[in-house]
Amino acid sequence: MKKKPHQPTGPDRAEKERARTVPPPPRRPRDRILVALDVQTLKEADDLVDRLHDVVGGFKVGHQLFTAHGPKAIHHIRGKAGRIFLDLKYHDIPATVAKSACEAARLGVWMMTVHAAGGREMMMRCKEAAFEYAVAHRTPPPIIVAVTVLTSLTQLELIRDLGVSRNLDEQVRHLANLAQGSGLDGVVASPNEIRLIRESCGPQFVIVSPGIRPAGSESHDQKRTAEPARALSDGADYLVIGRPITGALDPAAAAEAILSSIEKHGGRALQETRRP
Ligand code: C5P
Repeated sequence: MKKKPHQPTGPDRAEKERARTVPPPPRRPRDRILVALDVQTLKEADDLVDRLHDVVGGFKVGHQLFTAHGPKAIHHIRGKAGRIFLDLKYHDIPATVAKSACEAARLGVWMMTVHAAGGREMMMRCKEAAFEYAVAHRTPPPIIVAVTVLTSLTQLELIRDLGVSRNLDEQVRHLANLAQGSGLDGVVASPNEIRLIRESCGPQFVIVSPGIRPAGSESHDQKRTAEPARALSDGADYLVIGRPITGALDPAAAAEAILSSIEKHGGRALQETRRP
């Protein structure tokens, strides 16, 4: 009897490759803005999503909302929120982070975070676990980005409190290279470090920037900030913006004002720096 051709039981190579590729960021500035839902109740989150889902590209669920409501916070806004970015900044032993990444993939989030300071093995195992889940379930894997140095920290705190003797820029570059070498898709970094990360990690590496402050707005606890247009023209793929939008009386109007400022100052630069 003629032998049947081999039928691969697992996902084939092309599918694995597809799952590995991170799509380039959207061209329109509004689709690159991710609003941080740093609120206490599902109702507040819901309200912000209702007001902003037509204006911005996605929403970030972080420690506050997730600690208060767990996966319900994701299920609640899924459907109308578009892209959901789960920002829990995992930093634990590799096995624990890998299992958590698998659960994040099960939740169907579009992007998630770990701390680069968790080390190479933690990041590799995390990426592998989320990727394997996605391939096995034929869903897109979450984009995994590593936090380099929090935007609320200064050079002085890095040396004095954390005992890191490197210059802040060098520490960010070092952690970005480590994240890239560990197979992660990108990093979270302050707008001040976007250029150096682009230079070091190339055009395909995803850069997400919090610490975004429109001209004249309050910086709150953020120390390394920049205006939205500058962050985009420097090469950020996505901007995370919280209080300048969510704390406004009219969040949609605040987001539109930010978009106008981007159009005015950075529209052309953004197109020039778009990843191929
Ligand atoms: O309100 P604001 O615009 O400062 O919010 C920034 C958001 O980005 C917060 O949700 C914060 O947790 C997050 N973030 C940050 N710095 C990092 C990583 C995440 O500010 N390095």
